Amino acid sequence: MARNTLARIDVDAVAHNLARVRQLAPNSRVMAVVKADAYGHRLDLCLPALAAADMLAVATLEEARAIRRLGSNLPVLLLEGLIHDGDLSVAADLGLELTIHHPAQVRALEQFGTAPTPRLWLKLDTGMHRLGMDAASARQAHRQLLALPGVHQVNLVTHFASADAEEPTATREQMHRFREATSGLTGELCMANSAAILGHPDSHADWVRAGILLYGVSPHPDRTGESLGLKPVMTLTTELIAINEVSRGERIGYGGRFTAPADMRIGVAGIGYGDGYPRSLADGTPVRVGDYRCPLVGRVSMDMITLDVSAAPGVKIGDRVVLWGPGLPVEHIARYADTIAYELVCRITRRVRYRAF
Ligand SMILES: Cc1ncc(COP(=O)(O)O)c(C=O)c1O
Repeated sequence: MARNTLARIDVDAVAHNLARVRQLAPNSRVMAVVKADAYGHRLDLCLPALAAADMLAVATLEEARAIRRLGSNLPVLLLEGLIHDGDLSVAADLGLELTIHHPAQVRALEQFGTAPTPRLWLKLDTGMHRLGMDAASARQAHRQLLALPGVHQVNLVTHFASADAEEPTATREQMHRFREATSGLTGELCMANSAAILGHPDSHADWVRAGILLYGVSPHPDRTGESLGLKPVMTLTTELIAINEVSRGERIGYGGRFTAPADMRIGVAGIGYGDGYPRSLADGTPVRVGDYRCPLVGRVSMDMITLDVSAAPGVKIGDRVVLWGPGLPVEHIARYADTIAYELVCRITRRVRYRAF
């Protein structure tokens, strides 16, 4: 029988979360961000539930190609735009909308003689200093792009560096710079990621770009998706493959990180960093075995973890083990690994089987 390490994907939850985004940003159109295989939730499973989105956004040409292969004709935005020679003809074949964030990309379009679609998205850097043009370059690019044959609309985009921060000043400053830099330019405006959808309604504008919210996860490490009216999409599960007695003073796992403070029952579950369950997780990370919360004890191995099941009478080999999902928020688990929930869901490896329900 196949190993029972599963990512269960609640497809209805994806549709619910999209509807929740619409509730949060009722006057904006919604771009559903499905890069990185739908944030590790698998594009093929999630895409049907996103049919009601106004458009999709991905990072790479390969991700866009996967959308077309799956039969979706929704508009698709390439968030990083063109990278290599030859990307333009592929983008044209697939009918992709481009982010234009650099003058070199404007020149490439001018040489090509047109754009893959009549609508383009011009990206401005308003303070994150990752991708985007300054205000003056953007104004010039806007003119050049609208002069291209077949281009009818150039929308204006920026990205926030700190929309998830409690302190709103940096985001407000970026919004202010964006409004100033785009004043008088034609085109629709698009700024908000998930954190801004939640915390900065004045950034919603014509379009919002929703990523992590669609998967039922909060962009804020100290809030859960469930507390925001979302439904977690992924439940990561495995099963107990052994239960052993360990005497007081014995050390458990690689490096003997955990020393048993008393005689203990240790459950061994079939998941590890080879599946994407982070090695950096600390002792005490909550794991659910049946109805019990059983803390992780000892270092996460490639294929296994060790759990304190001493206070969980009746648990037995074969019992289901939940690593995260409804009631055991991935946002909390991420804190025990000193990372963010985005990373945990994105790093599930190919060894894990996915099941939609
Ligand atoms: C340019 C851009 N827009 C939107 C998003 C979506 O962000 P979130 O998942 O926080 O909604 C991302 C994700 O990293 C992004 O890079």
